[in-house]
Amino acid sequence: MVSDREIEHAVAVLRAGGLVAFPTETVYGLGADAANPDAVRKIFAVKGRPATHPVIVHIADAVQLPAWAAEVPEAAHRLARRFWPGPLTLILKRARSVNDVVTGGQDTVAVRVPSHPVARRLLARFGGGIAAPSANRFGRVSATTAEHVRREFGDAVDCVLDGGEADVGIESAIVDLSGAAPALLRPGWIRADELASVIGAWPAAGGAEAPRAPGTLAAHYAPRTVLIMVEGDLLVELAGSLTRVGKRVAALAFSARRPLLQGLAWIAAPSDARGYAHALYASLRALDDAGCDAILVEKPPQAPEWAAVNDRLARAAAGSAVPDDT
Ligand code: TXA
Ligand code: MG
Repeated sequence: MVSDREIEHAVAVLRAGGLVAFPTETVYGLGADAANPDAVRKIFAVKGRPATHPVIVHIADAVQLPAWAAEVPEAAHRLARRFWPGPLTLILKRARSVNDVVTGGQDTVAVRVPSHPVARRLLARFGGGIAAPSANRFGRVSATTAEHVRREFGDAVDCVLDGGEADVGIESAIVDLSGAAPALLRPGWIRADELASVIGAWPAAGGAEAPRAPGTLAAHYAPRTVLIMVEGDLLVELAGSLTRVGKRVAALAFSARRPLLQGLAWIAAPSDARGYAHALYASLRALDDAGCDAILVEKPPQAPEWAAVNDRLARAAAGSAVPDDT
């Protein structure tokens, strides 16, 4: 799918201080050489992301951790052994040498070893750390295909590696091991109980995904069209009443059956949490592009394996249809 020549080209772009979008198993990342502050600054410029939001450093292997983290606690070793390469990000005390532009000036650094084969080849050939946030404009829906990335950024990105659809479909779980007790800052595909079984303690719910930028937190991962969460039995009813007053409605259904309504954009979501997460962002993009007045999302179950999906949906609802300067 991605040739060795493309990997070599991407490595050359990174070494020259350029931006490379690459697939990971969670979502696509917008990468720069983490050791080159000017290159990392380009990420912030292209995304429209505030400088106080730190970025994740992607590395090829956990053996590289000491280059980025001043302290690697036992819990980090355990989690890395169990879940890396994979959709888990660890927040650790930063090594002195890490650039402030990567950490947002905080005393911690976020590190992850991704499992997507293209990301692994890129990291192995590059050798250093690749700073990469999700490849989307700030506050918007993450990209799960190379096409999403190209549509989002056009020529502003020097190189886009196409590794197909991201497998997991939502961003990594973020566990903060820099404080007195482990905290889950962002739920992900790896559940809290799986983390607890490895570290021997239930991680505290972090709630705040980026402690340095409160206020912007609730609104994230959002389409431009207003997004409303509704209970299953109300979805069809609300779609009907909006349609009757001349509104165009888009719906992401879970169990509801599609009604016969004019101008309705309708996607039936997969009924298992893994399938739902995998398809979520592509579905939200498609419904957003349908040019409707509202996106109605039928609430999925509240069970533990749905925690990450429910977290992203709540943020999408909070952030939808807010002005573009967020
Ligand atoms: O799955 C993922 O994690 C994807 C792929 C590309 O790896 N990346 C991703 O990055 O979602 P981003 O920047 O969109 O989200 C990372 C989150 C941000 O909310 C950021 O504020 C937080 O991690 N973060 C990064 N470094 C941190 C730190 N030192 N302390 C606390 N939060 C941090
Ligand atoms: Mg993001």
